[in-house]
Amino acid sequence: EKGGYPSFMAKEINDQPDAVGQTLLGRTDAKGNLVLDELRIDESILRSVDKIVVLACGTSAYAGQVAKYAIEHWCRIPTEIELSHEFRYRDPIVNEKTLVVAISQSGETMDTLMAVRYAREQGAKVVAICNTNGSTIPRESDAVLYTHAGPEIAVASTKAFLAQITATYLLGLYLAQLRGNKFRDEIADVLADLSEMPAKIQEVLDNSDPVKELGRSMADAKSVLFLGRHVGFPVAMEGALKLKELAYIHAEGFAAGELKHGPIALIEEGQPVVVVLPSPRGRDSLHAKVVSNIQEIRARGAVTIVIAEEGDESVAAFSEHVIHVPQTATLLAPLLTTVPLQIFACELAAAKGYDVDQPRNLAKSVTVE
Ligand code: M6R
Repeated sequence: EKGGYPSFMAKEINDQPDAVGQTLLGRTDAKGNLVLDELRIDESILRSVDKIVVLACGTSAYAGQVAKYAIEHWCRIPTEIELSHEFRYRDPIVNEKTLVVAISQSGETMDTLMAVRYAREQGAKVVAICNTNGSTIPRESDAVLYTHAGPEIAVASTKAFLAQITATYLLGLYLAQLRGNKFRDEIADVLADLSEMPAKIQEVLDNSDPVKELGRSMADAKSVLFLGRHVGFPVAMEGALKLKELAYIHAEGFAAGELKHGPIALIEEGQPVVVVLPSPRGRDSLHAKVVSNIQEIRARGAVTIVIAEEGDESVAAFSEHVIHVPQTATLLAPLLTTVPLQIFACELAAAKGYDVDQPRNLAKSVTVE
């Protein structure tokens, strides 16, 4: 059932073009409008929502963090992302005008289920984004938007993550369409970009030999740091989580802008740092800022592994390793930049002889609080 791959995880990483493609399938009509029939929440309620709260744990929470950037940009609805287990213990402000989005691959995560129950008690409507048909969280939510990644067997989440991000994009675009805001005219362009993602993910997979090699060559690393900015920040944290889970080494993801506020003190000779570099075509000169972060850490001895957009040669001269991914819109980049980090962790852990499908101490779904 591993389809010729050495592990379920390797198979599931390679399933990702399909996971994203299937999640997009059938969710637009002939005119290119989004139709999310399964979102059985009164349109008038969705129009009047004044806040979105995304609740999730682990990798699913990183999908939620990506969602915040996209939904706020497209819908102009204030969007928070919170870990499910923190949420109901702090007297959160949720009411009838709050839309809660609960993201869970398994649909059985107890922390998220309890948060969903709490949110509904406060009058909020809850949409579940879930990969498991008929599981508990969708059953206890007002509506569900299924991700169609197919069953995920490996404990470390990969294809479900990309499918979750895709589903949150669809939800954000749908809300923008429904609320008829300024962004409405751009929805068709984003949908067109999204439809190209399965092929672009495939390209990343087809060109993954160098990152595999790199993962294997770093099996002795004691610690790996990950830096990202904007949507690259949750990607960096996801890359670090994969490495912790699979390879049992210290790994941490930071917002690149935070470096000089503390983490740069960790940089010493030989410290590997994976950097998710924003597109040079993006606004706000974030690219230049992260390039200068790379220079700062290199000057202190870091060995940098940079995930950059195709055609971006800005760091070629002074970075040890550059992994290129196809160009895409800024907000959609996580669907591509995450993939090399998954492969890196999977290969590194496999080179250490670990079981990447069943990492120690972890369960596929965490059904206790
Ligand atoms: O099934 P869920 O999406 O609710 O699970 C949430 C987390 O437990 C899960 O993402 C966990 O962090 C994975 N092991 C990540 O690889």
